Amino acid sequence: MEVSISTIITYMLLDILHYPDERLRNAAKPVEIFDDKLKKIVEDMFETMYNAHGIGLAAIQVGISLRVVTMDLTGQDKQQPVVFVNPMLTNISSEINVYEEGCLSIPGVNEKVERPKTVTINAQDINGNHFAIDADELLATCIQHEIDHLDGKVFIDRISRLKKSRIDDKIRKESKENAE
Ligand code: NI
Repeated sequence: MEVSISTIITYMLLDILHYPDERLRNAAKPVEIFDDKLKKIVEDMFETMYNAHGIGLAAIQVGISLRVVTMDLTGQDKQQPVVFVNPMLTNISSEINVYEEGCLSIPGVNEKVERPKTVTINAQDINGNHFAIDADELLATCIQHEIDHLDGKVFIDRISRLKKSRIDDKIRKESKENAE
């Protein structure tokens, strides 16, 4: 009997890159081919995200330079999985919302970030079909956080320089201690 690898390995947990890894600074490339390889990446991203108890993950955070975002705002395994391929924002509101954000690539750090309160998300699904969603509250914040990743930004780029340099110092100190 022939058994293909895909039937044995249904998914794989991917390594999440941690700030200040330089690869988090690269801008991701648009997805042009919607094939089984993309589906596998998305599947692995969901497993990795749920396993890490995250609500959103950008492919760049697992070292894949593609404009792909997985999300589940419930944080519960497979409750509301949504994938955004090549997401773009329009109708960006001038009204601002503040959320305390965290990031799987910057564990242990939570900071308040100001972002536009409502946006329209224009994206493609896993098959390449275009769709649009009017987003507010957590969804609006989360997609902006993830699109930042696709553009090589992290959420602490959006807080005050003083706060950011304190976090940078703390992370530098911790990584030095771990190395010793
Ligand atoms: Ni993040």
